Amino acid sequence: MKENEIQQRQAPPCLKRDDLPQPDLPRDTPEDTPAVQDPETTAPPIRLGSFAFQQIRSATAIVTYGGVRFLIDPWLGDKESVPGLPAAYEPTRRSPFHDLPLPISEITQVDAVIATHLHFDHFDEAAATVLPKDMPIFTQDGVDAATLRSRGFNDVRILRFNGTDFKGVTLYKVDCMHAAPGERGRLYEAYQMRGDACGVVMRHPDVEKALYLAGDTIWCDYVADAIHNFQPGVIVVNAAEATLRGFSPIIMGLHDLRKVLAYAPNATVVASHMDNVPHARLTRKDLRLFVGMNHLQQRLLVPEDGETLLF
Ligand SMILES: [Fe+2]
Repeated sequence: MKENEIQQRQAPPCLKRDDLPQPDLPRDTPEDTPAVQDPETTAPPIRLGSFAFQQIRSATAIVTYGGVRFLIDPWLGDKESVPGLPAAYEPTRRSPFHDLPLPISEITQVDAVIATHLHFDHFDEAAATVLPKDMPIFTQDGVDAATLRSRGFNDVRILRFNGTDFKGVTLYKVDCMHAAPGERGRLYEAYQMRGDACGVVMRHPDVEKALYLAGDTIWCDYVADAIHNFQPGVIVVNAAEATLRGFSPIIMGLHDLRKVLAYAPNATVVASHMDNVPHARLTRKDLRLFVGMNHLQQRLLVPEDGETLLF
């Protein structure tokens, strides 16, 4: 495929009339702007009461919260190691689109892993191979826990809605919807995959802001309830609007982001899961256009792979 053909297929598919500037989205004041770390620097100083979110690639991230380093959804395979998806927006394009921004040896230097689910772009063969078998891994339920134990991991733990302690950080499981109601069963039956996934909230007595990792979900009552119940200061949203032909989006895009921003007016929203899977319909480029058009520079952050945000 020629380069200009690729660029054509990546042309913004998502900006519609209702994405034009609208006055109803609350904006943060400049003093709420989080510090942004140089992507070259991988060990940011973290002030007491704050935390760090480092975008790695796609949904993979490192969160340093309450002094504990968590690796989220490790998809650690090489660039283009996964074949195309026939029902994707770019069906023949291999993924992930980019190399990891850091050496795997650095990415896996963590205290624990959180696997929101085990789809190929959240926990892959490379992760199963390179992670130490005694690494604590938090999973959504017993089914995923059994899968990981069968791969030799011997410290697999299950997230709980009422909270699970890990080194002083409380992790709360949050429900999510990884497809539209009414389509979810049919979609995952067709693809012979589990449709279950989860989000996670982190809290620590010394950290000012709760962090809500929404996971692979569309906007739904589960997300609204989590925002209402935990009042997170930061919400990480998987925002690539991944979509398979014949179905509605299975993660958030602009339409859902607008709902998150409106429902959580005091939160900073971070867009993750960007620019690495062929079924995505929203790119960082389009999302930054949306941010600019709506004057959301301090409310909706779109980090590059490797970039660290301090909150
Ligand atoms: Fe995903």
